[in-house]
Amino acid sequence: MSDPILSVRGATKVFGRGASDAAKQLARGVAPEKLPKHLTPAVVDATFDVKPGEIFVVMGLSGSGKSTLIRMLNGLWEPTAGEVIVAGTDLAKADAATVRKVRREHISMVFQHFALLPHRSVLDNVAMPLEIQGIGKQERLAKAAEMLESVGLGKWKDKRPSELSGGMQQRVGIARALAADTDILLMDEAFSALDPLIRREMQEELKDLQEELHKTIIFITHDLNEAMFLGDRIAVMRQGKIVQIGTPEEILTDPANDYVAQFVQDVDRARVLTAASAMVPAVSAVPLSAGPRAALRVMNDAQSGGAFVLGQGRKLEGGVTDRRAMRLVKEGSTDLASIIKRDVAAVSPDTPLSDLLELAADTAFPIAVVDEQRRLLGVVPRVTLLASLANVPSTTSAIPVQHDPITDVRPEEVQAVLDEHPAPEGASTPARAEAAAPLDDASTEGSTK
Ligand SMILES: Nc1ncnc2c1ncn2[C@@H]1O[C@H](COP(=O)(O)OP(=O)(O)O)[C@@H](O)[C@H]1O
Ligand SMILES: [Mg+2]
Repeated sequence: MSDPILSVRGATKVFGRGASDAAKQLARGVAPEKLPKHLTPAVVDATFDVKPGEIFVVMGLSGSGKSTLIRMLNGLWEPTAGEVIVAGTDLAKADAATVRKVRREHISMVFQHFALLPHRSVLDNVAMPLEIQGIGKQERLAKAAEMLESVGLGKWKDKRPSELSGGMQQRVGIARALAADTDILLMDEAFSALDPLIRREMQEELKDLQEELHKTIIFITHDLNEAMFLGDRIAVMRQGKIVQIGTPEEILTDPANDYVAQFVQDVDRARVLTAASAMVPAVSAVPLSAGPRAALRVMNDAQSGGAFVLGQGRKLEGGVTDRRAMRLVKEGSTDLASIIKRDVAAVSPDTPLSDLLELAADTAFPIAVVDEQRRLLGVVPRVTLLASLANVPSTTSAIPVQHDPITDVRPEEVQAVLDEHPAPEGASTPARAEAAAPLDDASTEGSTK
């Protein structure tokens, strides 16, 4: 694993006279609220590491200390106590010149209110950090044009900022931050001033951009949905303290305390949780070599109207329904391949549940989760999908258990067909256990990830 690019150790910022004494008291375990009223413990004992290439989100309500924390990261505030190590330099101990150097070489900021110069063209705005670095005009304008291109604003370079919409202005802000070519991007409520639709668009664009750039991004927000969507990891702050650090899924599914739990209640889970988190072992699945009789038995046991069919190496071939299998048995055929529906929905484990919702609407089968070789890892039945979105266990009585695909064929009907149409002489009829065996280990592998 790579070394952290940013490392914060017990960083504390107290505002007010006698701050350093107060920080010592805090370190001894005095509760922040017990400090004299004229002191503000804005950040208390923050400790975390950020890995290169990570989007690390700091999330908390207004006044929880986010901006103070970010100002310690870029050296604008000296911590009252603790260490803030950026690319190997402890800013708390460094002299002013060193702090400026670290900031110039490693850190760019994107602000909530864009902070663009109104009388300069968009291009000149983006070139500004390069101008400050003393880079020649031609070179900086070329670089700035390239950055504008990367945020989709190539055509707007000669406009004034005021001629652009809010979303576009913030893209200029991002292009400007990128132009400096630093490895760390600090974004303080960068999208909070944008209206919701534009804001979502920007979140998605930032993620796309990050796929190419691999910057280290510290993103500050008071919006949990934004935090969950953007963050590889999230630090949740409350009253100056970091109360939990974890991946969005960890925070959603395992909140550290009631405060976080309350907070995550209203999260748009569909956008955060992935197929991997909602999938369950595929109980209704048969090998391609199984005949329709075995398939019917497996479906009957699983109380499902369909089964996935797996080829060599558990590769997903498609699905068969109980009706088609019954027809095959009646016809005396054993060729399961002839009735396979090939276009069953299959997704990768990292697909957001929001994408699954659409798929689930127009397929009878549960959604198959497959790896890059199209091997079946698990399935997301509709009931599980709904349950994970509602944050209730799928076994709860609040949600009626339905099996995908829902069948209107009664088990007795299936039995009757099997009895009336005995297996052809000599044809192999895999026993139930045999038919299911390779799939059982397929599903265990899938669920242990
Ligand atoms: N320069 C300052 N002087 C005194 N108190 C401050 C200063 N800056 C912030 N604070 C206080 O520190 C706390 C945290 O503020 P801030 O870091 O801006 O929170 P956030 O960005 O999460 O809204 C608040 O109580 C705020 O009033
Ligand atoms: Mg703030």
